[in-house]
Amino acid sequence: MTELSVFHCISCNRKYEIKEIRYRCNCGDLLEVIHDLSSVIPNPVEWKSGVERDFCDIAFQRYQKVLFPTLPHEYLITLQEGDTPLYDVSRHFPHFGALHLKHEGMNPTLSFKDRGMVAGVSWANYLGCEIVACASTGDTSAAMAAFAGAASNMRGIVLLPKGKISPEQLAQPIASGALTIGINTDFDGCMKLVQELTQKHKIYLLNSMNSVRIEGQKAIGIETLHQLKWQVPDWFVIPVGNAGNISALGKGFRELFDLKIIDKLPRLAGVQTEGASPLYESFKNGFSPLAPQKAKTTKASAIQIGDPVSFKKAVRELKHFHGIIETVSETHLMDCKARIDRLGISICPNSAVAVAGAMKLRDANVIQEKDNVVVILTAHGSKFSNTAVEYHQDSSNQFANQTQTIAPDLKELETVLNL
Ligand code: F0G
Repeated sequence: MTELSVFHCISCNRKYEIKEIRYRCNCGDLLEVIHDLSSVIPNPVEWKSGVERDFCDIAFQRYQKVLFPTLPHEYLITLQEGDTPLYDVSRHFPHFGALHLKHEGMNPTLSFKDRGMVAGVSWANYLGCEIVACASTGDTSAAMAAFAGAASNMRGIVLLPKGKISPEQLAQPIASGALTIGINTDFDGCMKLVQELTQKHKIYLLNSMNSVRIEGQKAIGIETLHQLKWQVPDWFVIPVGNAGNISALGKGFRELFDLKIIDKLPRLAGVQTEGASPLYESFKNGFSPLAPQKAKTTKASAIQIGDPVSFKKAVRELKHFHGIIETVSETHLMDCKARIDRLGISICPNSAVAVAGAMKLRDANVIQEKDNVVVILTAHGSKFSNTAVEYHQDSSNQFANQTQTIAPDLKELETVLNL
């Protein structure tokens, strides 16, 4: 390879120059970014100790050699994303060998999307793109708008499915100065429209079908392994919507393994809701071709997606990692959200889908008693406060913590407190 990084078609293997603005191969299939990593990291042992020795405050820069070495440092647009907590909750869940929660909701815009956006917006900055756009279920748009705001001379356009994202998520791109447009359709409809828009006009697409973003998202898995002192767990469990994140997780691990930075591969488990489960349907049928669905309403609105763009990449990774897909019910995911929230770890319903999936797979003994498990939490609970309020108001819910209202009177207060 003469170039350090190139676009590579995942089905016909055709290559394209990395500086070209393109999201698909001429054959119509998805592209991925391939780097000549062995020339960037000739000595993986040295790279590992360098990551400790020359500890860099910005996670993207710390891991940049394995993420996206081609991006020149001076074009970096960062909000100091990354370095998110890895909580060990094993003592609360002793039926697992170990259970860790990687909380990507502790990023600047409160979701994992900041990991991909630092790569995507910095690359847009390098290419000189002044207008960037995305379709979103709420978190991509929040991240893109914030990073575009942090860049000088960049304007964001976001297309959102009207009435289908939380008020907190809607507030984010508006506050960050992006042109925010509600579309009378679902996410899949917005995704189609933004592809038409960016094909026709000089507007840079920043959905995860832009494979540069995937390179940034690899950092989630790599940072987790670094926090675990490079001891690879048995499982990574992750919620799946458009399937970009599970593709990124797999690609990052494959590359670390090929470099011999890790000596074992984890298994991957992707989790969807029962009403939006196109990947699960394919998995059940031996990874049959994607049959797009009309995704049903779910509390996990960020993964209410019936036609996932990164389907083929996700299937490739799942096969490579002996992966599986599971689905969970609305009741189970909201109960799991309540259980984790109660530990002081505030999570969104989408993250709770992954937690519920891990519990279900453990109950079925697919995840075994001795297994070491990491669940990726993708966004913070504060982005979805209504779901928590509604859950706790309803006494029929298993972990409801109902509030009470009384007059400003000590006697009444004592009665309520049983004093
Ligand atoms: N969790 C959260 C909180 C999300 O916002 C998303 C995706 C996912 C999980 C699923 O990740 O799509 O890579 O499989 N949100 C996108 C958005 C679709 O527009 O914010 P995925």
